[in-house]
Amino acid sequence: MNRASDTGASAWKAGRRAVFTELGEDPMDALQNFLRVEEQPPPDPRGCKPHEVIVRIESSAVSWIDLVMASGQYQHRCHPPYIPGVEYSGVVEWTGDEVDPEQIAVGDRVLSDFIAAGPRSKTDYQSAGGFAGYAVVPASALARIPERLNFDQAANLLASYETAYHCLITRGRVQAGETVLIHGASGASGLAAVQICRMLGVRVIATGRSDEKLALVRSQGADAVINLRGGDPSSGLRPFRDEVKDLTGGRGVDAVYDAVGGEVSLESLRCVAFGARFLIVGWTSTPDVADGKGRRGSPRANQLPTNLIQMKGLDVLGCPAVITVERDPRKREPRKSHILEWAAQGKIAPHVSRVFPISKATDALRARWDGGIAGGCAVRPWEF
Ligand SMILES: NC(=O)c1ccc[n+]([C@@H]2O[C@H](COP(=O)([O-])OP(=O)(O)OC[C@H]3O[C@@H](n4cnc5c(N)ncnc54)[C@H](OP(=O)(O)O)[C@@H]3O)[C@@H](O)[C@H]2O)c1
Repeated sequence: MNRASDTGASAWKAGRRAVFTELGEDPMDALQNFLRVEEQPPPDPRGCKPHEVIVRIESSAVSWIDLVMASGQYQHRCHPPYIPGVEYSGVVEWTGDEVDPEQIAVGDRVLSDFIAAGPRSKTDYQSAGGFAGYAVVPASALARIPERLNFDQAANLLASYETAYHCLITRGRVQAGETVLIHGASGASGLAAVQICRMLGVRVIATGRSDEKLALVRSQGADAVINLRGGDPSSGLRPFRDEVKDLTGGRGVDAVYDAVGGEVSLESLRCVAFGARFLIVGWTSTPDVADGKGRRGSPRANQLPTNLIQMKGLDVLGCPAVITVERDPRKREPRKSHILEWAAQGKIAPHVSRVFPISKATDALRARWDGGIAGGCAVRPWEF
């Protein structure tokens, strides 16, 4: 048995948690009307199962997925009331009798596996995200934090880097010397993609809407950056095909990492090499493809023109990082292990641009929505 000797519930302080009480019509509706911050009683080990662990959470990621999940406009549903924060990090306070101390022990710095616990999981631990002082999780849903990472970085690791890994490596099969066009490069998964490309020797042309964030993207490994602001009054974006062609000697890019969607996807099809891979990551520019309040269907889904796909001989690849491993769990372990190993070796490291106390949970999520974040963002539950 490996439990802290006198850690009865009364030994721990009450924490705070943020709770979505209802799904919104859209993410801002959910934030304004259905997110409340309240006291969280400390967990009582006597109510825990032998394979479970109590974690004192030090930091939680603030992700785009938290936003679209709050209105039910995401493919994966979470049923309110639930605590947002798809992944988090902290310190182990207590372990159940069946937990192997070689695997997880009291005092360990740990990060959560977003597929095994928290709102993005399909487990009994779905409603307990990282915007809280404590979490009760199975030991199998935790991993020790690589030494080089602090808690904020650890909370922003797996989901974004596994997404980038799945899109670029598993699906995109990118190779050293190739050129990839990364849209949404200043985002959590975009910046992870930039770092992974740098590590692999893949050349990156990155796009975004802010010179300041693009300067950061460059510092993280992009070889060239393009600011899309200006041009078309309706989208506020300008064409970029000529710039990309100039940067590739007229050839076009070998792959597109598209986390933005909409007009940006369409313009990308004009500056790809013949036989390029078009990697569908997400659609931050069109988050309302589905109706709010968790209604099903995607009446405003993005569409790609078949004529361009045909003439350019493109491979258009859907790249869902979680659904893929739900269908084939063997794909998970190598991906997760590589990410943890690369982080331990200092080859990748999440850039966390902003940190918020839990009392400002709404501001943190709004900042992600408004594009006010570059890379990772964290909520710290013990700072009020
Ligand atoms: N395939 C998967 O398995 C998987 C996994 C996780 C996430 N996703 C999806 O991937 C997408 C990105 O996720 P993320 O976590 O990286 O999000 P994020 O951190 O919010 O970053 C998205 C980036 O997109 C850009 N952007 C936002 N709105 C835009 C607009 N209207 N027009 C042009 N650019 C815009 C922003 O960059 P600038 O402000 O610099 O333009 C922002 O930094 C989301 O749709 C998410 O659902 C997919």
